[in-house]
Amino acid sequence: MSAVQDQGPPAHRLSDHQGEQRQPSSTTSPPMCLADLASVAARRVDPAHRDFIAGGAGDERTLRANLDAFDRARVLPRVLRVVGPRDLRVRLFGQTLALPVLVSPTAFHRLVHPEGETATARAVAAAGTVMVVSMAATRTVEDVAAAFAAASRAPDGPIAPWFQLYPGPDRDLTRCLVRRAQNAGCRALVVTVDSPVLGRRLRDLRNGFLDLPAGLACENLRDPGTGVPRPVTMDDSAGWDVIARLRDWTPLPIVLKGVLHPADARLAVEHGADAVLVSNHGGRQLDGAPATLAALPAVVEAVGGRIPVLLDGGIRRGADVLVALALGADAVGVGRPVLWGLAADGERGVRTVLDLLRAELDAALALAGARTPGDLAPDQITGINGNAGAGGHAATSGCAG
Ligand code: FNR
Repeated sequence: MSAVQDQGPPAHRLSDHQGEQRQPSSTTSPPMCLADLASVAARRVDPAHRDFIAGGAGDERTLRANLDAFDRARVLPRVLRVVGPRDLRVRLFGQTLALPVLVSPTAFHRLVHPEGETATARAVAAAGTVMVVSMAATRTVEDVAAAFAAASRAPDGPIAPWFQLYPGPDRDLTRCLVRRAQNAGCRALVVTVDSPVLGRRLRDLRNGFLDLPAGLACENLRDPGTGVPRPVTMDDSAGWDVIARLRDWTPLPIVLKGVLHPADARLAVEHGADAVLVSNHGGRQLDGAPATLAALPAVVEAVGGRIPVLLDGGIRRGADVLVALALGADAVGVGRPVLWGLAADGERGVRTVLDLLRAELDAALALAGARTPGDLAPDQITGINGNAGAGGHAATSGCAG
């Protein structure tokens, strides 16, 4: 993976690559928002690795669309609603999360911090929410789950991480990963279905960033016999039968990640998925796919409350979380901001990301006239384009994710 420095978007906007152009108010002042952490991270991370994290596929239209959709959204507050102390908790698969924000799977945490995913796990567990461990993690799922369990501070019973996998062509390997995740105590499987092939990420191609640096590896993919890590392999022949196959192997709830079309949301319910995650992989797969916020209302309608609907892509503020919840998401995921936190300040930086989102969401809820996310209504959100649109070869890369 790799990429060339692009020109980046206008400096006034807050986000991934934009954030990298902003200077924090002072190098010593604590971060006040996620963009502050992006600025610190940008100065600490190798430029090719920074591009890997910040970049998207093609012209990065979908990457920008995710951010633009939240920038455009406006919240109509309700007043005099006796909001009282807010309750941000959400229940998913029998676990109560302290806030409706979970950590989406991202590959290669050791690119930005020597401890990698175990530091992330401790921070997320202490914040009382869920981390989705990437199949392409640079720590084993056993190590991450153990770090998570040791730090878990959930107020309403224990929380365990979830495990993400790509439906790969090697069924023995996939089955082995499912078993390992389950034995490590993971509470759900997140199956990423937006990746029959790897998106064309021009930054990575231009930078020649096509493999992990020496000393780092996808630790979950080591061959049990030789110990040599296998590449992340995508499967362009995967079909809906993947859900039934996984069901045969595990009782864990199955979350389909990467659903954007309402017809696919209906199919997900019919095939027995336990949740859908509305995602375009942070703009890293199909460039031209709609913003996840634009796709959300039609998916929520298609699912009709039968299973939870989650969303990720472009969440950078507590108010963004509020907008997604008001439009029917049960919870949201964050990807890049967690890597900014990890790069900026390790475990503490990740904790700061979640604490900032919690504080911002708490204030935004009160100001919008809601005590709980369930008090929000879609008619409070204006300014978004609600039209979602319609919308094996084994592409392998050590840098998939
Ligand atoms: C990802 N994402 C991802 N998704 C997945 O299913 N498996 C993976 O291994 C990865 N790896 C990965 C690496 C990096 C560096 C990024 C930025 C993203 C996608 C991720 O789960 C999520 O969908 C997006 O990151 C959400 O968008 P934001 O929050 O980054 O805007």
